[in-house]
Amino acid sequence: MDIRALERRDRPQLPGLTARAIRSGCAGSYTRTQIAAWIRSHDADLVLRAEQVVVACAGPDVLGFAGVDTRRLVPLRFVFVDPPHWRRGAGRALVQALEQVCLDKGLAQIAVAAARHAQAFYASMGYEVVHRLQALLPAARSGRPDIGVDVVTMFKPLRPLEVRAQQGR
Ligand SMILES: CC(C)(COP(=O)(O)OP(=O)(O)OC[C@H]1O[C@@H](n2cnc3c(N)ncnc32)[C@H](O)[C@@H]1OP(=O)(O)O)[C@@H](O)C(=O)NCCC(=O)NCCS
Repeated sequence: MDIRALERRDRPQLPGLTARAIRSGCAGSYTRTQIAAWIRSHDADLVLRAEQVVVACAGPDVLGFAGVDTRRLVPLRFVFVDPPHWRRGAGRALVQALEQVCLDKGLAQIAVAAARHAQAFYASMGYEVVHRLQALLPAARSGRPDIGVDVVTMFKPLRPLEVRAQQGR
């Protein structure tokens, strides 16, 4: 598995991967209406607007992707791994690559608005819950109210690799 910057040729694989990851991840944690709204909100624009997007890939196949925007209060924008490739370290490798982007930009901390089911994933990498909130996702049709989903804001102080090595982790 390689981690590299998103390339134009990767883009056709992203919408299907996103939908599969959200459907599998959210099942049991959110309603069908919430899941559908979540998938709609992660459109191509969101990916293109991110400052930096990295992909985990095996040859031409995209296994997962993640995006960061260091200009935002909550820089980590999205992390998606295709369900058949879960629990093989792709998500962790993607997040570590984006943490390095944040460090390179001089950020001392990183935050993410995590879905309920992703909390254990971020916690395993040292993220701590700051607070719980409702994110608003756009409704299916105009005129309908937006759809709220419970998420948790999680935060992690960042330390350069050389400091981690000195501290033995
Ligand atoms: C969350 C997600 C990105 C994790 O990707 P992944 O490639 O499976 O994660 P990793 O294999 O790198 O897991 C790293 C560690 O996180 C923890 N972890 C990951 N998934 C977990 C789960 N479902 N339950 C509990 N712990 C989990 C484990 O400690 C794991 O280490 P281990 O496998 O050695 O025990 C993936 O499940 C996903 O795409 N989910 C749907 C989309 C989503 O919710 N994205 C996040 C939105 S905020």
